[in-house]
Amino acid sequence: MKNWSESVIYQIYPRSFKDSNGDGIGDLMGIIQKLDYFVDLGIDAIWLSPIYPSPMKDFGYDVADYCGVDPIFGDMKDFDVLIKEAHSRDIKIMMDYIPNHTSDQHPWFLESKSSLDNPKRDWYIWKEPKNDGGVPNNWRSLFGGSGWEFDQMSNQYYFHSFLKSQPDLNWRNLEVKKAMYDVLRFWIDKGVDGFRMDAVCHLYKHHGFQDEGKISDDKKDPIRPEFDLDYSLTLNQPEILVWLSEVSTLLNEYDNKFMITECSGRYSDLQLLLDWHESGISHIHSPFNFHLLQMPWDAKKFKEFIDQYDNLLSDEFIPNYVMGNHDSPRLSSRIGKENIRCAALLMLTLRGIPTIYYGEELGMEDVEIPEYEWVDPDKRFINGRFVTRDPERTPMPWTGEENAGFSSHLPWLRINNDYQSVNVQSEKD
Ligand code: BGC
Repeated sequence: MKNWSESVIYQIYPRSFKDSNGDGIGDLMGIIQKLDYFVDLGIDAIWLSPIYPSPMKDFGYDVADYCGVDPIFGDMKDFDVLIKEAHSRDIKIMMDYIPNHTSDQHPWFLESKSSLDNPKRDWYIWKEPKNDGGVPNNWRSLFGGSGWEFDQMSNQYYFHSFLKSQPDLNWRNLEVKKAMYDVLRFWIDKGVDGFRMDAVCHLYKHHGFQDEGKISDDKKDPIRPEFDLDYSLTLNQPEILVWLSEVSTLLNEYDNKFMITECSGRYSDLQLLLDWHESGISHIHSPFNFHLLQMPWDAKKFKEFIDQYDNLLSDEFIPNYVMGNHDSPRLSSRIGKENIRCAALLMLTLRGIPTIYYGEELGMEDVEIPEYEWVDPDKRFINGRFVTRDPERTPMPWTGEENAGFSSHLPWLRINNDYQSVNVQSEKD
């Protein structure tokens, strides 16, 4: 298999890639049926967005069992076949590893919640209310509102960086660390080659639990206009650098493993990226570089950034570039269809690892989803209106047939009309 530094990663959003059993949702068998497609494309590694058992409140980023496969996607036997078949084609498999939070249905949280003296109480972040019964501090959830959820039974609040059904794990607890490191070993033992690590920038929160400072209007994130905190106590805490070193050391016990970590979007300035690179073992770790994803499509700005990043990273480090993912509008819709070949040429010829989001190779565009069909819980303010992440998560078109050859059934999200003879809406009508 190729070195990671020369690999091209392809992100699959499993719900939307290929449905093999006709329930309208993509699955592992569907991916297996399409493995030769990756050989034709020249893909070296596939990153699977989460396939774990989950209540799917955040479409798999709310994990109820880190060592299983959700029946929607198949079972562990299908997963074993996927590994075997992918490896026989020299394709590596990367799991999405979600260390910051579990689902509130994860047995660890159910135990933690069951009583104040449960041995797993400290596995999550619990705090007393303020004297007036209010939330412990002003920390927010990235999906809106306070980050604290009250538990009536114990009269305490727990913290969640995302949905209230995604309680944050307490990484300061050594048992949590051990259990979560065991999860990595579990998947490595199953033959997995690497991990994409979710929301790593949120992993530690400041132990003082003071209020976060406010930012001025001009510093506010246009996508999340209601957010007025500086996130200095809940994001990018120094402990993360130690964590990166520990986790890459764990992976280094094995042969040719790799991790690519989610380094926060808005706060990921270049220095932060460099610090993250330097904290992990250089040939095992690369923090996601979202700069080209967030910049305007402007040749001068691109060149300036790329020169800086590439020059600052010495040869031992592995740069990476991302221009699309399941959290951002489609490349084609952002920069214009006429520019996507140029973007592909750039990504594929720069030093380092390109990560390609499924369908970008076809120039897939965002699909307009009417509000009554929205399923994503995260609402963002883009171009003057609230949108969800649904438009960039729609099913992959395979043929010009019904449902674009993605499924024999009505798909879970509508497909671009251009790609098919029948779409969700016309079937509903
Ligand atoms: C993932 C999102 C997800 C969030 C919470 C992210 O950074 O990419 O899709 O909603 O983490 O897990």
